[in-house]
Amino acid sequence: MLYIIDSAHIELIKKCAEFYPIDGVTTNPTIISKEKTDFIKLIKEIRSIIGPDKMFHVQTTSTDCKDIVEEGLRLRELMGENFYLKIPVSPEGLKATMELKKQGVGITMTAIFTQQQALIGAKAGADFVAPYVNRLDNIVSDGVHVVSEIVNLFKVHNINSKVLAASFKTAEQVHKIAMVGTQAITINPELFEQLVYHPLTLYAVDDFEADWASVYGNQKIIDMIK
Ligand code: G3P
Repeated sequence: MLYIIDSAHIELIKKCAEFYPIDGVTTNPTIISKEKTDFIKLIKEIRSIIGPDKMFHVQTTSTDCKDIVEEGLRLRELMGENFYLKIPVSPEGLKATMELKKQGVGITMTAIFTQQQALIGAKAGADFVAPYVNRLDNIVSDGVHVVSEIVNLFKVHNINSKVLAASFKTAEQVHKIAMVGTQAITINPELFEQLVYHPLTLYAVDDFEADWASVYGNQKIIDMIK
């Protein structure tokens, strides 16, 4: 499963890229606007932090096909390989997806709330479809159920598009989404840290250190090997 960071916060992205096995970064206009800075400078900086090999998903702010296509082509030029234009699902967005695919631009169809939106997005040529798990849970739908049906639909119909589940608030949502075979998730850096952290791990490490020190003091294995 691909782990992607849903953030435009430079310091947090730097930390995730240094310490965690992440596969890329996703942004959207809300995430970008939180940084209150020059958009082009910001996305260039994110690209330079994650490097050319990791995926970078940037969302269009246009709603009509012609402008979406133009933004997609310009952004792809600027961002290079492994770039995906995020397009919210809509008639204009689907038309833009079909046109951009012909020109080889990667597409993530986003703001997906139903199985059929995902299937139609995939049919239009989207490389990824992004269902919103927590926002589905918030309306007393079932994010995990919707995502698992999309995963199954893609299997049954032999569709190559991948599911990039988005909108997470809890580690439990992440775990359940991973269990249904989702190919990718995007989560904020704070939630990524929660996935790594467990207090019992810290207790275990404290015990290891104390037991080692009781016999070997400050010596490290590396000193013993030299
Ligand atoms: O990037 C889209 C998605 O992750 C939005 O998440 O937390 O605003 O529901 P959220």
